[in-house]
Amino acid sequence: MTHCCAVFANTAVRSTVRSPGLDLPADLFAAIADLKGELNAVVLAHYYQEPDIQDIADYIGDSLGLSQRAASTDASVIVFAGVHFMAETAKILNPDKLVLLPDLAAGCSLADSCPPVEFAAFKAQYPDAIVVSYINCTAEIKALSDVICTSSNAVKIVNQLPRDRPIIFAPDRNLGRYVAQETGRELILWQGSCMVHETFSEKKLVQLQVDHPEALVIAHPECEPPLLAYADFIGSTTALLKYVQGSSAQEFIVLTEPGIIHQMQKTVPGKVYIPAPPIANCACNECPHMRLNTLEKLYLAMRDRTPEITLPPAIAAAALKPIERMLEMSA
Ligand code: 13P
Ligand code: SF4
Repeated sequence: MTHCCAVFANTAVRSTVRSPGLDLPADLFAAIADLKGELNAVVLAHYYQEPDIQDIADYIGDSLGLSQRAASTDASVIVFAGVHFMAETAKILNPDKLVLLPDLAAGCSLADSCPPVEFAAFKAQYPDAIVVSYINCTAEIKALSDVICTSSNAVKIVNQLPRDRPIIFAPDRNLGRYVAQETGRELILWQGSCMVHETFSEKKLVQLQVDHPEALVIAHPECEPPLLAYADFIGSTTALLKYVQGSSAQEFIVLTEPGIIHQMQKTVPGKVYIPAPPIANCACNECPHMRLNTLEKLYLAMRDRTPEITLPPAIAAAALKPIERMLEMSA
């Protein structure tokens, strides 16, 4: 059985692999807990982080939940266990706080698929358009946007926009297509995509359904339309988790990054969660950016107060407005 097709049951274990040559405490979990107190720090983690990181986080959530928590925290230091655009959003919301990202190279292929100069030229072709940008983009793209959305509030936000104005939706064409379908609005799509959510194999998914006829298919809207067509439920990572929690079904085929399965196993043990396999025989359904963060790097970031997220103040100020608009429109 290859890694990609493994069926996950309730097997949560702590499996920290140690890097030789680093001066690390014997108990990283205890050391991180101590540092949290010392720094008055909060650890915010996305569901795609490795299980150990999820287990030491103060809050685990989807992009909207993480932004809301970053906006409301009274901690002095935010340790962001996620990717760069997420930590950057936390910094934009908290310009005076220290925001740490365990590995500064933890980027996002979707954010990379929308370079600011090209996007500004694209936007200039539609001067009347309202620009809605998915939070998976750089601060520069946010600064060029009217409102930000996440996968959990995109439909709600687009539904609140005036019907007589065109709408540009960037950067994810798959989420954009899904939102257009759900709202009945015609959206002008930037053609970006996520390398992880485009990796799933339709053929292997169909085979899994044959092998597990009772399993429900649950999918993230960043998946491509032919895969989404098989879904019994589509939603953000938090929505997928809540769906599993509220469902009487016992088996689920999970069409998103398999990190989320750790929380499914923890909160609803005993059910069977099957990660949807990628086309190739690889672990490329795991986000290589998210997985750059490790418990060791998180500890070192807290110990050394680096790497820190910094932003040019003008970009941060311009990016704050559409993020705040999103938070108001999601309330
Ligand atoms: P959500 O957790 O907001 O659903 O987003 C998924 C994702 O791809 C984050 O990069
Ligand atoms: Fe970006 Fe895709 Fe990774 Fe999410 S899963 S951080 S969208 S590359």
